[in-house]
Amino acid sequence: MTLQNSLLRETHQNARPISPAGTALPPRQVQSTFQFDVAVVGMGYVGLPTSLALREAGYRVLGVDASEQRLQTIRELRADLLAGDRGRLSRALADPDFALTSDSTLLAQASAVIIAVPTPVDEHLVPELNILRGACRTVVEHAVAGQLLILTSTTYVGSTRDMLAGPLRARGLEPGTDVYVAFSPERINPGVDDFSQEEVPRVVGGVTEACGHRAEALLGKYVPKVHAVPTAEAAEMTKLLENTFRAVNIALANEFSTICTTLGIPVMDVIDAAATKPFGFMRFVPGPGVGGHCIPCDPHYLLWQLRGNRVTAPVIEQAMQNIAARPRQVVDRARKILSDKFRGLAGTRVLLAGVAYKPDVEDVRESPALEILAGLEAEGATVGYVDPLIGGIRVNGASLEAISDPETFGADLVIMHTAHTEFNLDWLSTVPVVLDTTYRLPAAANTIQL
Ligand SMILES: NC(=O)c1ccc[n+]([C@@H]2O[C@H](COP(=O)([O-])OP(=O)(O)OC[C@H]3O[C@@H](n4cnc5c(N)ncnc54)[C@H](O)[C@@H]3O)[C@@H](O)[C@H]2O)c1
Repeated sequence: MTLQNSLLRETHQNARPISPAGTALPPRQVQSTFQFDVAVVGMGYVGLPTSLALREAGYRVLGVDASEQRLQTIRELRADLLAGDRGRLSRALADPDFALTSDSTLLAQASAVIIAVPTPVDEHLVPELNILRGACRTVVEHAVAGQLLILTSTTYVGSTRDMLAGPLRARGLEPGTDVYVAFSPERINPGVDDFSQEEVPRVVGGVTEACGHRAEALLGKYVPKVHAVPTAEAAEMTKLLENTFRAVNIALANEFSTICTTLGIPVMDVIDAAATKPFGFMRFVPGPGVGGHCIPCDPHYLLWQLRGNRVTAPVIEQAMQNIAARPRQVVDRARKILSDKFRGLAGTRVLLAGVAYKPDVEDVRESPALEILAGLEAEGATVGYVDPLIGGIRVNGASLEAISDPETFGADLVIMHTAHTEFNLDWLSTVPVVLDTTYRLPAAANTIQL
């Protein structure tokens, strides 16, 4: 089925193609129809499910990724997806209205372009904006009049204007009249199917009012509610608030776990009890730290921008320090536990159960497990890990492969790091000590919470 998106088509009726130099091209070159309704730039954890949801909503979709290897993984159905999305991908791959390419010149064939490329931080926690800048440059270069461009990557406030609106204007494409530019943060939650993407409202802010309306119309066809904010900047800041809120609350939960340990109270008894209050409390659980592409990165985009404005945000700074310190606390705790039996960590055997940054994903980006394993090894422990979803990782610059049978490892200590749904943990009962950093394991004689 091909959706004839009347709004998107109507925007294009008056389309005036613009040359890269910014000069209007002669009318005979006006493109009469777009081959695709939406092109999604960046087919990763966000872009791929988004493109599948858009196709499901009837849009003709072009998935664009700079990495041929990534496209191959998708074509071979090996991408890390929820079961429902895997079914969608099988259908899409056989669908003429769903196409994959690494050729960015095809962006000119799409009525709308959604940008979903990574926005990581470097080892000094400074935003690495080169990927986003590069993707936006490409999108601007291939933009045609009438197009709607929506940035969805999490980024600093002002990015949409700096990287899209300004350069488009420099090319002679005025946002709000020639092209439409908006920001709409992505709220996808990989590995968790409590809420499908289509159930979660989208926030949208346009560079102009008309830009906002176009973006609302496009996204409103596949989500139940679009919440419009007056500016792209308000939408950018909304995402930073959402993830900073999570970071601060995770840090508070971590701090409470330390407080409760000191006072001899099981922290989960307290958190579960507080969570019975139907208002004014939201349940956050302590853990070994945070990983993935959101919580360890996003608040740093805000803090970095604030530093440029000579403004501090002590609550957020403190929360991020607390979170960053957590993997070291796990190593400290492991050393303390093993010091009763051995002399510190040297010569011991420590096994991590689960290394993905959260349950049910094949993603180890920023996973606390990597720092924990590196720290244990640096202190002389022999380390190993078991994880049904992660075949190999790098620790202290060397490859480490998953152990297939944890019982053969002979662990002095097991650190429970990631409790995947399909993770058989029966063997934990046979090991001397389990340090549970997930706070999810049932009480057992050999189990200690972090
Ligand atoms: N992963 C999440 O849970 C999540 C949730 C909400 C928001 N976000 C945000 O969404 C954005 C994307 O994150 P992700 O996890 O999907 O990243 P990802 O690393 O999984 O995927 C990004 C993809 O973009 C491709 N890419 C990079 N540069 C490109 C270019 N110039 N042109 C085309 N493709 C390019 C990469 O090859 C990769 O396949 C980030 O800003 C992130 O903060 C992520």
